Amino acid sequence: MSALLVHKNVLLLMSLITYVTSLMMVGVMSWGLIVKTKVTMTNKISEPLSIHCRDTFNDDGNYTFEEREKHHFKVVLNPFTAKTLWYCSFGWKGAFHGFDIYDKKRDKNCNNSECIWDIFQEGPCRFDPGDNGTTCFQWDKKKSRR
Ligand SMILES: *[C@@H]1O[C@H](CO)[C@@H](O)[C@H](O)[C@H]1NC(C)=O
Ligand SMILES: *[C@@H]1O[C@H](CO)[C@@H](O)[C@H](O)[C@H]1NC(C)=O
Ligand SMILES: *[C@@H]1O[C@H](CO)[C@@H](O)[C@H](O)[C@H]1NC(C)=O
Repeated sequence: MSALLVHKNVLLLMSLITYVTSLMMVGVMSWGLIVKTKVTMTNKISEPLSIHCRDTFNDDGNYTFEEREKHHFKVVLNPFTAKTLWYCSFGWKGAFHGFDIYDKKRDKNCNNSECIWDIFQEGPCRFDPGDNGTTCFQWDKKKSRR
């Protein structure tokens, strides 16, 4: 009788431990799944540069910064969608351009969850870890996208 009771208690304790452990695992997993990438842009144009970045659900707002100043925002990667895309407009004296500043596929090799860009008049250049140095891109040709 008492042996049965102990057995029952042990079972209860074990299932409680299993329950708590699985809760913790779910917690850790969901935290691990929320991956954030920082996108940092430096103004390398000899003019104040205004930028406006957004994706489908978020809008970083219109922000103006001086030459050599940096601006950054955080991209939260949704593990359930293959595509994460942030589009930015860039405006300065006499010019207005657009560019996909964060593309989950293209930018997967960013420096340890930070994508580092220099914004030049000719287009944005991404700093790449390793031997490749920087990779420069052209402005988006689709002018109508804003
Ligand atoms: C930001 O706002 C200013 C003032 O309305 C505008 O002239 C500029 O084109 C905007 N910049 C971008 C990148 O949308
Ligand atoms: C890339 O990441 C490493 C480690 O976090 C850091 O030391 C280095 O400064 C980064 N590179 C650039 C260009 O910021
Ligand atoms: C360097 O560039 C090559 C060719 O474009 C690419 O295959 C490789 O993944 C790049 N390496 C890094 C560390 O980004």
